[in-house]
Amino acid sequence: MCGIVGYVGGERCVEVLMEGLRNLEYRGYDSAGLALAGPDGLRTAREVGPLNNLAGTVGQRDGDFFSMRSGVGHTRWATHGRPTEANAHPHTGGGAPVGPEVAVVHNGIIENHAELRDELRARGFEFRSETDTEVIAHLLGEGVAAGSSLKEALVETLQRLQGSFAVAAVSAAEPETVVAARHQSPLVVGLGEGENFLASAVQALLGYTRRFLFVENGEVAVLTGTSVELSTLDGRPVERDPFEVDWSAEAIELGGYEDFMLKEIHEQPAALQATLAGRLDADGSVDLSELGFDLSGIERIDVVACGTAYHAGLLGKSALERLARIPVEVAVASEYRYGDPVGDEKTLVVAISQSGETTDTLAAVEAARGFGARVLAVTNTQGSLITREADAVLLTKAGPEVGVAATKTFLTQVAALYLLSFGVAEARGARPVEEIKEIGRALRRSPEKVEEAIELLGEPGLMSAAVGVFAGARCALFLGRGQSFPVALEGALKLKEISYLPAEGYPAGEMKHGPIALVDEQCPVVAILGEGTLREKTLSNVEETVARGARVIAVANEDDVAAGRIAQSVLPVPNVPQILSPLVSTVPLQFLAYHVAKARGLDVDKPRNLAKSVTVE
Ligand code: M6R
Repeated sequence: MCGIVGYVGGERCVEVLMEGLRNLEYRGYDSAGLALAGPDGLRTAREVGPLNNLAGTVGQRDGDFFSMRSGVGHTRWATHGRPTEANAHPHTGGGAPVGPEVAVVHNGIIENHAELRDELRARGFEFRSETDTEVIAHLLGEGVAAGSSLKEALVETLQRLQGSFAVAAVSAAEPETVVAARHQSPLVVGLGEGENFLASAVQALLGYTRRFLFVENGEVAVLTGTSVELSTLDGRPVERDPFEVDWSAEAIELGGYEDFMLKEIHEQPAALQATLAGRLDADGSVDLSELGFDLSGIERIDVVACGTAYHAGLLGKSALERLARIPVEVAVASEYRYGDPVGDEKTLVVAISQSGETTDTLAAVEAARGFGARVLAVTNTQGSLITREADAVLLTKAGPEVGVAATKTFLTQVAALYLLSFGVAEARGARPVEEIKEIGRALRRSPEKVEEAIELLGEPGLMSAAVGVFAGARCALFLGRGQSFPVALEGALKLKEISYLPAEGYPAGEMKHGPIALVDEQCPVVAILGEGTLREKTLSNVEETVARGARVIAVANEDDVAAGRIAQSVLPVPNVPQILSPLVSTVPLQFLAYHVAKARGLDVDKPRNLAKSVTVE
């Protein structure tokens, strides 16, 4: 995880670095820091805790600090070493008596850092931190002190490293230059006029540019204010066309909302609309020609993903199996990658990742390549690593998601998988065309129905009554059957990640085989009732928990009278066709997690220990 930024060119260096870090804080917020390069040396500032702490320190620096024209910045999610100032990046190397100082920021893990540390210690280097990154700073400083250019020293250093990294560095010896490289961790170059930028992700820089260059694995970038040079580690120049992103800078501002999570919940109708646009016609027919795949040749599908994306995958499986009659397995990517998966070239592997950067999901893709599968990435991030690893990409068009808890990207992932299920169903002739189109027409109504769900939940007192059920709670049990089971898993994940309450998502029918032992007055049950026969069955299971003292919150259709008889609190959702049920039922669970966390005084956008992009395994 961790976010890195770099800038070279003008006097707005500190402003750009701080703004870039602000937009990357979702990647980690254990500490943050800056290093600026000038002809008379480096200036650094580092602080433990959220970026505001660094902003306070930077605000007290003198004019000299703000006149520097190049620098790098970092926001940290701790892997090696606790969140202390000593472990905060940038890390420096060189300096008197051996030569000019360099400063390095790093995202990733250097696997051979212990051996390198021993070797450097034996040569007299002293270590000031517990991080794996400090070895890079010393190797780089040593190279520069020995007379190498910053780029040459970086290349020499990279040849010593094993593991994953995106690194950026500045040196007092070349204050007009920023160098960077990557292997497995993400890095983009932002292109400006008289200035150039670097970042872990495009959203860091949207206030300054929308033109970017990918830096690929094993490439080095050298930036000055007027030039960007890419080359391979063995020195071959790389020519690459820039790409333009269509995200706006406003999309990553709060726009009057108290938190990004709340904003992003409210953006769900628009996000769904954008994801369906151009892919689902008014008559319900689907157009996935953008994939360039012949979907008819596929005989089975493996879905790989982590966290919320895995829950979307479970809903995708249910639609694909029901509509396209194709066998689907859904696997947590970290298990799949080491699980010796079985498949062949008729297997389609669908890798779902909001960020497109999740290490385990990327590794699962690589494992699938091992048996010749075709890979389809479902991602929200244009130009992310997964888009370059996959054979085809189905972009969810949710716009940037800043809150660590995934909301709008979950709904759009589900919608994208539904589109895929229509496409596969059609290609296989699994169902009458008109039947699929009818379901397609229902899906077209998802933005409107999710909007209705948001409005229904806005009724005064509803959410506070639900939050009241959580007073004194020590855990929670989320129950659902069929399509409502993945929704229950997602509701439980949302609650635990932002409110820190232990929460289990369970198939309602399985509850008596263990989890019912949790039930008492301090363990609320959140039941996603759904409709049809499964609703009846779920209701019976909920009755069983009520008999054991459970306090119940029911997510139920707005006209479901029985729900009000067993639940202390009913969160209503509009009546919808079956395919839309998971989409509308997720909304109350997002609000519930949000309000419970707020009532506990927690930061919903930056929950402890988490980061939005998980780039370590
Ligand atoms: O970027 P990805 O979709 O690959 O991320 C996967 C998970 O890390 C992510 O969904 C995580 O579980 C969220 N914080 C859940 O809200």
